[in-house]
Amino acid sequence: MFKIAVLASGGGTNLQAIIDAVNNKEINAEISYIITDNEKAYALERGRLNNIPVMSFDRKQYKEGLSDKILEVLKGKADIIVLAGYLSILQGDIIKEFKNRIINIHPSLIPSFCGMGAYGIKVHEMAIEYGVKVSGCTVHFVDEGTDTGAIILQKVVEVMEGDDAKKLQERILVKEHEAIVEAVKLFSEERVQIDGRKVSIKG
Ligand code: GRF
Repeated sequence: MFKIAVLASGGGTNLQAIIDAVNNKEINAEISYIITDNEKAYALERGRLNNIPVMSFDRKQYKEGLSDKILEVLKGKADIIVLAGYLSILQGDIIKEFKNRIINIHPSLIPSFCGMGAYGIKVHEMAIEYGVKVSGCTVHFVDEGTDTGAIILQKVVEVMEGDDAKKLQERILVKEHEAIVEAVKLFSEERVQIDGRKVSIKG
């Protein structure tokens, strides 16, 4: 059975979208672990409510050792790792061990409004401030950089008259849930191919 590990830091609505898709058999896989970098993340409760093994490693306690701790747990236990609102930086051996098997969802059309410090509502504030006519979300591979990995799929969301950051965030979050499920499903069906920065979908 295809195994998915999910890392989260917050409420976990993207995680919930994956849980729902697995539970209703839209994705033929199992979620082997949910790991958060803080014990208050509601994502943990979402796991408990669905009998999924959950763990949290306090980022303030583990500091630079956090990624290695996660690797220790996940090595051999996951086919892909999904960052679903995970705010700590993933670094070191885990990136090599899980090369082209770690994906992240970002709430903008990368390469716009991404990189260090661009997370959460800030991303949407930047988009509104810039005056873009469209924004959206991106699922991409995780590499050594921040939001720099090859792009797997994107969904476009129109910026409407009178939108503020909150309204735009809510509209994009709906598309994020679709995008993350679509991407995980493609991986579970082994349909994602990568050649340099070019990602193509088989079949
Ligand atoms: C989402 O907007 C995601 O794109 C970003 O963090 C947020 C997490 O939301 N990486 P949730 O915890 O999945 O609800």
